Amino acid sequence: MNEKIIALQNEINEKLSSVADLAELDALRVAYLGKKGSITALLKGMKDLSVEEKKTFGAEVNSLKEFATEKIDEKLIELKEKEIAAEINAMPIIDVTAPADTDRGSYHPITLVQRQCEAIFKSMGFTVEDYPEVVTDYECFEALNIPKHHPARDMQDTYYLSNGQLLKTHTSAAQNAILKKYGKNLMENGVPIKAIFPGRCFRNEATDACHENTFFQMEGIMVDKAINISNLIYFMKSMLSEVFQKDIKVRLRPGFFPFVEPGFELDISCLICGGEGCPSCKHSGWLELCPCGMIHPNVLRDGGIDPEEYIGFAFGLGLTRLAMMKYGVKDIRNLNSGSLKALSQFTDDE
Ligand code: PHE
Repeated sequence: MNEKIIALQNEINEKLSSVADLAELDALRVAYLGKKGSITALLKGMKDLSVEEKKTFGAEVNSLKEFATEKIDEKLIELKEKEIAAEINAMPIIDVTAPADTDRGSYHPITLVQRQCEAIFKSMGFTVEDYPEVVTDYECFEALNIPKHHPARDMQDTYYLSNGQLLKTHTSAAQNAILKKYGKNLMENGVPIKAIFPGRCFRNEATDACHENTFFQMEGIMVDKAINISNLIYFMKSMLSEVFQKDIKVRLRPGFFPFVEPGFELDISCLICGGEGCPSCKHSGWLELCPCGMIHPNVLRDGGIDPEEYIGFAFGLGLTRLAMMKYGVKDIRNLNSGSLKALSQFTDDE
């Protein structure tokens, strides 16, 4: 065999044994097999040889080329495997048997109450609807029988966006859309509308222990042919008794909301004294919890439903208030504080 070829073969073997990484290997490939590499140069130089020499020398150069290609490829696989092994070794070891990090936050008390209410209403055949926090003036007021300049708007001042939209002041803002969404099924197939829609609401409030500019409500509506106030009382009583795990008495007082007629304030018997009278209920035995009423004909009409034929109830449960009652939270501001210390104590039952 040609001496040059033998020398090159030895050289390649030797260099390959000391190659440490992929970059070095690539440099080696270029040095021998690249356009200006030494093996390529041998192949190019063959044009000056005689036909006889070309035959033998050509075959030898070609087998050297094959040898080099094969060895470099082998080395490539070896280096890649080493790289993967190194990566695996560098990974942190996870001990799946180690005790859990218990300092990780928890469900918010309002989330807990909301989920519980949702489960109860779902079990009674209500659908749970989601609705945006940014709504139009129509959704929040006009469609609820609160025209522009109506004094009822005074109590619901809110944050307005430059495009005229606003942060919803109550979950009632979804009533119109939900009446429209299910109205067809009610009128054509006789399927009653039964929906709840929890959501975050916003109002311009001077904050104190009982008032926040951001709070949660859960609205509920039911529309069919012969709905009456006792249906409303039944659903509210069942839900509240389930949430508080005891029989809850309710009473209705007249209340004014332009989108219901008649309208009520629903009170529950005081959870602390059971109705005897104590400082928590200002000695009345009752706590105010949930405004409600029979949906106003104008609201049904705006939702595409004929008020001559259909009737329904609506309620606007104060979820934030309910959470405060359930967990004995004295200051509403704790709920929006983001303080884990304040909030993580309420998760014991999940
Ligand atoms: N949306 C009313 C409020 O937030 C509450 C309400 C809801 C009253 C449904 C009646 C019926 O003040």
